[in-house]
Amino acid sequence: MKKKILVIGGSGYLGSKFCEYNLSKNYIVHCLDNCIYRNRYSILQLKKNKNFKFIDFDIRKKYHNKISYSAVVIFAGLVGDPITNKYKTLSKKINIEGIKKIINFYKNQNIRLIFMSTCSNYGFVKNEIATEKTKLSPKSIYAKQKILIENYIISLKKKSKFCPTILRFSTAFGLSLRPRFDLTINEFVLNAFLGKKIEIYDHLTWRPYCHVIDFCKVINNFLNLDYKKVYFNIINVGSNKNNFRKIDIAKRIKKIIPKFDYIIVKGSKDPRDYRVNFDKLSNLIGSKPFVKIDFGIKEIINFLKNQKNPKKFLKYGNYFIK
Ligand SMILES: NC(=O)c1ccc[n+]([C@@H]2O[C@H](COP(=O)([O-])OP(=O)(O)OC[C@H]3O[C@@H](n4cnc5c(N)ncnc54)[C@H](O)[C@@H]3O)[C@@H](O)[C@H]2O)c1
Repeated sequence: MKKKILVIGGSGYLGSKFCEYNLSKNYIVHCLDNCIYRNRYSILQLKKNKNFKFIDFDIRKKYHNKISYSAVVIFAGLVGDPITNKYKTLSKKINIEGIKKIINFYKNQNIRLIFMSTCSNYGFVKNEIATEKTKLSPKSIYAKQKILIENYIISLKKKSKFCPTILRFSTAFGLSLRPRFDLTINEFVLNAFLGKKIEIYDHLTWRPYCHVIDFCKVINNFLNLDYKKVYFNIINVGSNKNNFRKIDIAKRIKKIIPKFDYIIVKGSKDPRDYRVNFDKLSNLIGSKPFVKIDFGIKEIINFLKNQKNPKKFLKYGNYFIK
């Protein structure tokens, strides 16, 4: 029987790539989303595939679904520090209450569930490279909400039937049907391409990065792994080789786009600073080649070169809800 996957938040940046990836594997993909940013273009494209179905639904509502799936993958939420700060009450309703409704619906079913968490949970890690055992030090509402759900899932061990896995993602880069240009690499490349000077705050702070396609591959690896290996497990997703400081990224982009103009600004806008270790991931799925950031930079440049109006992408991100 064909694999049938439910992708919650599948019209977003990472979710739409994940839907596309699984459709290319000939799986049946149901995407549940309310397109909170009016991000329906991805759905229009995905709908061209007969194995795709869109469920227009807001996870704040009472959830019910009679269809049985091989796995449920949760991407949905208000994603990022700025948007969760801007819409505090709404983010609580979606990122905590809404996500709990989905988890509560599936917790007593014999099903695999993957919850997308974030390496942002590490927040600030000095003199250490964070492993899954490192004490979390969230610096934002967004990360605190992710940790709350992580803890909620873990609290269900021995009280439930499902098989959940928590993946802590690095910061993404690369393209999808709903690209976001409010994330460091994508944002820097877009501005460099447009010849816009940018200010770089916290230029010495570290973060791990991961290409969108690698997230898709890793999630699918997890869906196929032995039950015991993924059951209530928490895993960082990314590559040891893709930890960078913001300044390293700016310099790499400048090598490729010499006109890139930026200034280093003193003072801090974002206290997060963390390097992450991904050995647990490679021990589970084997060591895979991860996309290097230079590839991602060139991929975005080529994409922008083919756009009639690349400036429009300055608005592509989680900035405001219409
Ligand atoms: N993008 C990254 O760098 C990154 C890094 C770490 C973790 N993550 C996690 O990956 C997931 C996806 O992130 P993304 O960058 O694709 O974000 P995104 O904002 O592009 O996608 C989120 C999706 O959730 C949907 N959504 C929001 N509220 C909803 C609601 N009430 N009901 C139904 N759907 C709703 C949105 O419409 C959107 O399609 C998130 O859980 C995020 O925390 C992302």
